[in-house]
Amino acid sequence: MAYTKNEIINMLATVADDEVEKLRQQAYSVMLENCGSNVYLRGLIEFSNICTNNCNYCGIRKSNHKVHRYQLNRENILQSAIMSMKSGFGSVVLQSGQRQDAEFVGFVCSIVREIKQITKSEMLPNGVGITLSVGEQSEETYRKFFDAGAHRYLLRIESSNPELYAKIHPGEMKFENRLHCLEVLKKIGYQIGTGVMIGLPGQTLEDLANDILFFKSIDADMIGMGPFIPHKDTPMNEEKFPWDKNRNYRLGLNMIAATRLVLEDVNIASTTSLQAIAEGGREHGLMFGANVIMPQQTCQEVRNEYLLYDGKPFLNETIDELASGVKQKVEALGRKIAFNTFGDPLHFFNRGKK
Ligand code: 5AD
Repeated sequence: MAYTKNEIINMLATVADDEVEKLRQQAYSVMLENCGSNVYLRGLIEFSNICTNNCNYCGIRKSNHKVHRYQLNRENILQSAIMSMKSGFGSVVLQSGQRQDAEFVGFVCSIVREIKQITKSEMLPNGVGITLSVGEQSEETYRKFFDAGAHRYLLRIESSNPELYAKIHPGEMKFENRLHCLEVLKKIGYQIGTGVMIGLPGQTLEDLANDILFFKSIDADMIGMGPFIPHKDTPMNEEKFPWDKNRNYRLGLNMIAATRLVLEDVNIASTTSLQAIAEGGREHGLMFGANVIMPQQTCQEVRNEYLLYDGKPFLNETIDELASGVKQKVEALGRKIAFNTFGDPLHFFNRGKK
């Protein structure tokens, strides 16, 4: 169904319990109609926090010298990928800070190839699905990653309002470049994922409604978005930018529901940042129309060094505990987990048909 911007703003503005429940039910039934009740799990491997960018909101920004920087080695990453595959997760996400040097690009290509090889099974003859989330790269690099075997890419636009984008990023980071990257990724043939932070200082409901229309206009296949949470060692810390936790949480859920209503057949992730604000937040997101969870599968030793925001959950569990925990919680909701399958977004195959 086509919604106007005002209708979307009204969805986002919903606060009364009974109205929120109505919105949730609508979104849930649109999810069931378009995607069914399956939940897809992707093992998230945060393989390095070394970053050459200086995003004002992010805990691993280059200028944060309090962070101990790490880069996991090949064996360690492969081990996470294998454990994730053995838990039945049909896809993994490799995420890191942004680096564009040849050594990094070569490392990512070889690790993608090895994961594809090593995770082959009867059910997944080509190995697990691989999503990359390593920032802005050249077309040549994106092609190398694709040829190595990655078939999905996540690159959040962070805010589709260029002025707001400019406020939360240093001058050298250009909105146009991010847009260009998304176009290139799509041209190459990736399934593309994007998203925004919700509740940024100065962000209006109209901005958020425009974000959803932006997702539609670029024909995104996957959406990952979550509440903005200040990190103490960044320019956007809580003292400078007091935040309203409850508002950001509620808006996070309303955004999932509104995105489901407008975009219908995309995959929507229920993100860890919802869980960082409230216990059970990830499951809550699934009830509002999300159908993907990306449980961390990064080894425990470095997990607490990959802190994009304060209060990140699940720092003390083992990889196996994280996998079994998420399975129990999703099944307790009555949702079925689709194991041992890529779990591609249907939108990718429906593109241009609707
Ligand atoms: N609060 C919420 N989300 C954040 N991200 C980075 N920093 C924060 C923060 N302080 C998100 C960005 C980025 C993704 C990997 O994490 O949207 O694209």
